[in-house]
Amino acid sequence: MILLTHLYQTCNIFMNMTNFVGLRLPLCYCSCSCSLLNNCSRVNKAPRRILLSFGASSFFSHFVPMSLSISGVKSFIASARITAGPSVDQILNNVQWPQHFPFKDQDFQRYDESSDSVFYEAPRFVTHIDDPAIAALTKYYSKVFPPTNTPGVTILDMCSSWVSHFPSGYKQERVVGLGMNEEELKRNPVLTEYVVQDLNENPTLPFEDNSFNIITNVVSVDYLTKPLDVFKEMRRTLKPGGLAIMSFSNRCFFTKAISIWTSTGDADHVMIVGSYFHYAGGFEPPQAVDISPNPGRSDPMYIVYSRKLSTT
Ligand SMILES: C[S@@+](CC[C@H](N)C(=O)[O-])C[C@H]1O[C@@H](n2cnc3c(N)ncnc32)[C@H](O)[C@@H]1O
Repeated sequence: MILLTHLYQTCNIFMNMTNFVGLRLPLCYCSCSCSLLNNCSRVNKAPRRILLSFGASSFFSHFVPMSLSISGVKSFIASARITAGPSVDQILNNVQWPQHFPFKDQDFQRYDESSDSVFYEAPRFVTHIDDPAIAALTKYYSKVFPPTNTPGVTILDMCSSWVSHFPSGYKQERVVGLGMNEEELKRNPVLTEYVVQDLNENPTLPFEDNSFNIITNVVSVDYLTKPLDVFKEMRRTLKPGGLAIMSFSNRCFFTKAISIWTSTGDADHVMIVGSYFHYAGGFEPPQAVDISPNPGRSDPMYIVYSRKLSTT
């Protein structure tokens, strides 16, 4: 009974949210993978809700382990690709958001609640999306970034590693990387400086107000357990009119991604990230772009972006 009540409440939230964007929802259904739950129960310390998915085409169709396995840690495909329904580019158009942030604390729990410093202790000199997806992201950056070596331009790459996927040879006088592993950050050629900081422990960005023209975050927004705090900090540290670009695919370190991410699909992820911008406040209405290079044949790639209002 408790479970049913909980499911009903959770379904209700999502049905409300999806109704607001006009997605047709014939059913709100739950889907869980026993093998996945069994696998993950070995590391699960926190209570978890049942996996839930919503949307016309958003469901768990498969859980395929990625070939990547470093230091005994695997990255998993966490969601199905969008195959029908509104295009990603339209999902965030004219959303009437609920008055209050619709997520609960439990939506930000993870299977592995141990310190992120343990998980990221060993460097991983790997890429987390395939080459065509990386190329699509780099091409997108080359369209929206200011020209290389523009005086006064500063960039923060949040959740950074040894690669930022910026255009080849791209330089600005200040490019800061913030991430968990110093060895990785040290090797990142575009960074002029770096900070090792656990944003889940301390979401306060160690930068002055109005510092950055651009903030990027590549395939990592799903690891933030205090996303609203982080997005408020992004707003504070962006210059007025500054651009925040959150990019993601359908892969993740499953045990470290938040519950609301691992239990939903690509279209939902666009809504979730859009909601972070909206409820953080002080941003223009967020927009989404699907830059997937070869739909169905290589990793999908989605961008949710927004600019800090020039009046804040
Ligand atoms: C999947 S990797 C992506 C790395 C890089 N952005 C890329 O595109 O290859 C996840 C990254 O998020 C960072 N990260 C994860 N949890 C974090 C946290 N709690 N605070 C800060 N950074 C975090 C890690 O340092 C890691 O580099």
